[in-house]
Amino acid sequence: MTGKEKEKEEEMTIPQIEEIEEEKEEELMAEPETAPVEGSEQDIEGLPGIGPKTAEKLKEAGYGALMNIATASASEIAAVADVGEGTASKAIMAARGALRMGYETGLQALENRKKILKLTTGSKELDKLLGGGLETCSITECYGAFGSAKTQIAHQLAVNAQLPIDEGGLNGAVLYIDTEHTFRPERIMEMCSAKGLDHKKILANIHVGRAYNSDHQILLADKAKDIMKEKNIKLVIVDSLMSHFRADYIGRGSLAGRQQKLNQHLHVLQKLADTYNALIYLTNQVMSKPDMLFGDPTAAVGGHVLHHAATFRIYLRKSKGDTRICKLVDSPNLPDGETVIRITPDGVIDR
Ligand code: GTP
Ligand code: MG
Repeated sequence: MTGKEKEKEEEMTIPQIEEIEEEKEEELMAEPETAPVEGSEQDIEGLPGIGPKTAEKLKEAGYGALMNIATASASEIAAVADVGEGTASKAIMAARGALRMGYETGLQALENRKKILKLTTGSKELDKLLGGGLETCSITECYGAFGSAKTQIAHQLAVNAQLPIDEGGLNGAVLYIDTEHTFRPERIMEMCSAKGLDHKKILANIHVGRAYNSDHQILLADKAKDIMKEKNIKLVIVDSLMSHFRADYIGRGSLAGRQQKLNQHLHVLQKLADTYNALIYLTNQVMSKPDMLFGDPTAAVGGHVLHHAATFRIYLRKSKGDTRICKLVDSPNLPDGETVIRITPDGVIDR
């Protein structure tokens, strides 16, 4: 808020302030004149107070989509675009109005679900377990012990995402945040030749960022919004989510700080999913729980923060030879269940 705006607010009486708050709320809840949700990538020029020059500044800083503005704070926008906080909050309110970010009816929610795309895993049985495949606009977490095939599935999804929609793909490019340095273009080439795809085209559409520590990983995810639209990214992979966080924050004392950073990181990823109708695939490690007497004594790391952020959770276990047991652990609308897949030289297939 600028000094003048502050002075003005201090001069106002409480009823006046309440009136303005109400007005803001009304603006927020008002029916938008423009198209909703898909409009999240709509041009930001024309928002109140956002002229061509300011729009240019915002776009350069990665706030080119309405959803970026609508979910930002006034101070963030003010700093980036060099405008007053009053102007920034007006623009934010207008963006929220245009995107219908108030309440919606169940029917509208059903209508919005129609834009969700499903990505095939390569296994029909696993797709069936997932209700047709992995969903865009959400985060899927895949966890399991070493060698359980989390990275193999990541490679397969990076290929499949580029297939046309009617073949179970997302018709889009891929962003691959590689924290363990296990991305292998040779493996992508093998998977491409099994499908008769041109590996050069496929590899050209996989944008790999090697993260060297947790802060770098966070930065790579923050930077993603700069290229999501331009490169038509529909799948964001983080393999693995927790390895750097676990290495960088050691001991109980640092746990709260780690979870706070992790929470912010997951919010950024969820925002990418919502804004660009993209799918986020996270892999995660497990830890053993020696105090558990019955059942499987392994659990995913990352705690409640991650548990709540992931919409779908898949637990992978090694089985005989190249087979792996996939268990759907958590989903908002599907029953839990299990199926078996195979990891072959051609990639992920049914047993
Ligand atoms: P961590 O990252 O160590 O926690 O394991 P992960 O779950 O990511 O395991 P990954 O996806 O690397 O899977 C490893 C398993 O997949 C291996 O044990 C192999 O059986 C199989 N695998 C890995 N690479 C290849 C490959 O190039 N070809 C084939 N056919 N199988 C592979
Ligand atoms: Mg791995």
